[in-house]
Amino acid sequence: MSEGVWAAPGRVNLIGEHTDYNDGFVMPFALPHTTVATAARRDDGLLRLHSASVGGGAVELRVADLTPGHGTRSWTDYPAGVVWALRDAGHEVGGADFHFESTVPTGAGLSSSAALEVVTALALNDLYELGLERWRMARLCQRAENVYVGAPTGIMDQTASACCTAGHALHLDTRDLSQRQIPFDLAALGLELLVVDTRVKHAHSDGEYGKRRAGCEAAAAQLGVAALRDISYEALPQALGRLTDPEIRALAKHIVTENHRVERVVSHLESGEVHAIGPILNEGHASLRDDFRISCPELDLVVDSSLAAGALGARMTGGGFGGSAIVLTDVSTKPTVTKSVLEAFAAASYRVPRIFSATPAPGATRLS
Ligand code: GLA
Repeated sequence: MSEGVWAAPGRVNLIGEHTDYNDGFVMPFALPHTTVATAARRDDGLLRLHSASVGGGAVELRVADLTPGHGTRSWTDYPAGVVWALRDAGHEVGGADFHFESTVPTGAGLSSSAALEVVTALALNDLYELGLERWRMARLCQRAENVYVGAPTGIMDQTASACCTAGHALHLDTRDLSQRQIPFDLAALGLELLVVDTRVKHAHSDGEYGKRRAGCEAAAAQLGVAALRDISYEALPQALGRLTDPEIRALAKHIVTENHRVERVVSHLESGEVHAIGPILNEGHASLRDDFRISCPELDLVVDSSLAAGALGARMTGGGFGGSAIVLTDVSTKPTVTKSVLEAFAAASYRVPRIFSATPAPGATRLS
């Protein structure tokens, strides 16, 4: 078929932050918010991109001219980067018309970029009958982001958008991309997971991400391992003793303890002890705030004000320095928790946060 409609979701990450570029474990789930692409093949070698969310006219690019480093630093770099990555990997992709509409909040740490990349890859996979598996599309989307867009991100967001399933969190080993779908049915237990978008994004976030990644790689090199994933929780005290730089030591401590937290959360969820993950979420936040140092006052305030009002657990989610936090709460406590967060933000004169309840939605799919 030469045209159709496809959708790919944004995500939140339940636990496992900044572990994905350390070959570690993550546990995202898909949001009901999606980017929808209406797309058709073109035979003239042109890629025509239009976004209802961004507005303005369509952008036309020659597929044969797409080259990393020559992007426009706008939203079109993401779909253009996917076309480049597919072609660079030897797949015969030509021109296409794309019209995008999205309900994934942008700048909120909820992977609007990955949704845009994955929906593009999924559409092209069908339009050009490439026969690519989901994990392979995710890898190519990551390559688009790393090489074409120039952001040194890991593989979590693209895999979440491509591979998540409704009602489950995705337990992903980012080393070999092996996956397990873990049932995460909050409603059955009278629980809710709130996403609190602080609606701030601190300006230095991009450079700081790269610095954390470089620090983790330095730690792995000093410890003589391929990635921090190779340091077990049991071996952590000894490894920390071998790292002399306090900043690098703190980064390594976060990654190793965070991988351990993912394992603990998985085992609780598998035994149906969902309440028990609350304190682990809190530990994760403290580690991101104190050791990895990527939180900010707004994210800390979501965590502190929701826990003070009786939430079971809370932590920042995603890259950090703004964006969103998640809050696990009993359904009965939700109104008090929401009120507490809103009042705390008002008292601090912060922007009014956007709060919504999230249940695990399906991953990317063809709609028609
Ligand atoms: C961003 C990146 C991901 C991951 C998270 C932190 O969302 O795109 O690859 O590193 O930050 O866990």
